Amino acid sequence: MKTEIANIKKTRTGADALVLPVINGGKGDRLNSIDRALKGMIKKVIKDRPSISDAGNTEILHIKEKGLPGIILLVGVGDVKKTGLDELRAAGGSAFSALARYEPQVVALAADDLLQKKVDHIPFVEGFMLRNYSYDRYRSVNNKKAVRTFRIDGKHNKKVESRIKELSEITEAVHFARDLVNTPSNDLIPSDLAREARRMEGGKMKVKVMGKKDIIRAGMNAFYSVAKGSKEAPRFITLEYKGKKGPGIALVGKAITFDSGGISLKPSEGMEKMKYDMAGGAVVLGVMRAVSRLKLPVNLIGVIPSCENLPGGAASKPGDVVKTAGGKTIEIVNTDAEGRLILADAIEYTKKLSPEVIIDIATLTGACAVALGNEAIAAMGNDQKYIEKLMKSSAATGEKVWQMPLYKEYRDYIKSEVADIKNSGGRSGSLVTAGYFLKEFAGDTPWIHLDIASTAWTDKDRPYMPKGATGIGVRLLVDLVAEVSK
Ligand code: BES
Ligand code: MN
Ligand code: ZN
Repeated sequence: MKTEIANIKKTRTGADALVLPVINGGKGDRLNSIDRALKGMIKKVIKDRPSISDAGNTEILHIKEKGLPGIILLVGVGDVKKTGLDELRAAGGSAFSALARYEPQVVALAADDLLQKKVDHIPFVEGFMLRNYSYDRYRSVNNKKAVRTFRIDGKHNKKVESRIKELSEITEAVHFARDLVNTPSNDLIPSDLAREARRMEGGKMKVKVMGKKDIIRAGMNAFYSVAKGSKEAPRFITLEYKGKKGPGIALVGKAITFDSGGISLKPSEGMEKMKYDMAGGAVVLGVMRAVSRLKLPVNLIGVIPSCENLPGGAASKPGDVVKTAGGKTIEIVNTDAEGRLILADAIEYTKKLSPEVIIDIATLTGACAVALGNEAIAAMGNDQKYIEKLMKSSAATGEKVWQMPLYKEYRDYIKSEVADIKNSGGRSGSLVTAGYFLKEFAGDTPWIHLDIASTAWTDKDRPYMPKGATGIGVRLLVDLVAEVSK
């Protein structure tokens, strides 16, 4: 979708559909002038349904008058002095979904009334753009036409153009991550992720891909112990973006392209969703893409260990013991706790690249949903200063993050009788014991763990996230990286 700015001012915008924000009580010059052209139709709707001005409510009007768009969508934005950033984003998303069934090609947003009230309308635009996504790769019929042009109509200051451009890059990165996550595992294997990484190579971006032999040679036996159950070859992908001198942030993304559980096999019900177990890796690719396209003056490393977790004659068995590249031994008591195995090696590898902080992002535990439902990312770490920065990015992007504790008492839960550590502490506290396991491998390096198991996928449409892969984490981490670079 092309997003453009314009200052048309007339009722005629050249669009198939016009989005008209309704501020509390239906005040605003633009609304009034369109209402006059419609002989009071809008004021009547507002009178009949006063709640239309509540943030996120919508009403479609079919217009016969010549010179006006065929569809006018009223969308409530509430008392704009009080409406929160994410409410405005959600209203933008709701506007898109209310329009989608009419398949308009060109949509205009009448932004003047918001601008006149000095309301930042960009979050609304963002919500609209984020919601304009569907995954149609395998549909042979009934493809919905997406909006081609989104025209933001109003008297804008100069900054808006660059903010829209920035927004477009970030939204594209979110959609790119969603595409990867939605793709089933027969069409997305580790080498496909490596290919996507390679496509970003060039300029300030370097990409390195290690295959099975390199992984074994590097001593990444914990990672390999997961990979070896599948015929598909693993890939260990490293992207390095150098936008300045000095150290930078490192992102590590879990990319299990399918998680069957291995020998500790998962129940078949719902197993089809385990194609999304590579969402962490997809987020890392999305962030790298946005940051390099925005040419941010930062250093950023992306590390993506990728493989399948399958049962088979060569698969790891419960009770097996493996040694990581850093020399720690792990007892694999449950082959379904594979994410932390591949991340243990990946975190140790990343430490050697001397980043100022490591942030891993992973669909790590089912317990994440037990603790937080499908609303928030669980965060844990050993560096409160960085967690505070992350919280700021969370507030700015609306991607909710909730911190969980890593009390030293949890160490006992993952004590092994035969090795340095075991890969599962059982049901109790399993969201935090997974985090604690990773902490042991991060050591003294500042580190944050983000569990996106319950938020990377949504079973219901959300205001700016349609059903399926959400791409959550991309906007959060791009914001963090951008803020740290300031
Ligand atoms: N990929 C899963 C976690 C997951 C579950 C992600 C549901 C998305 C939705 C992870 O590899 C896993 O299987 N974790 C186990 C760990 C347990 C065996 C200690 C879990 O949480 O059940
Ligand atoms: Mn698993
Ligand atoms: Zn998994």
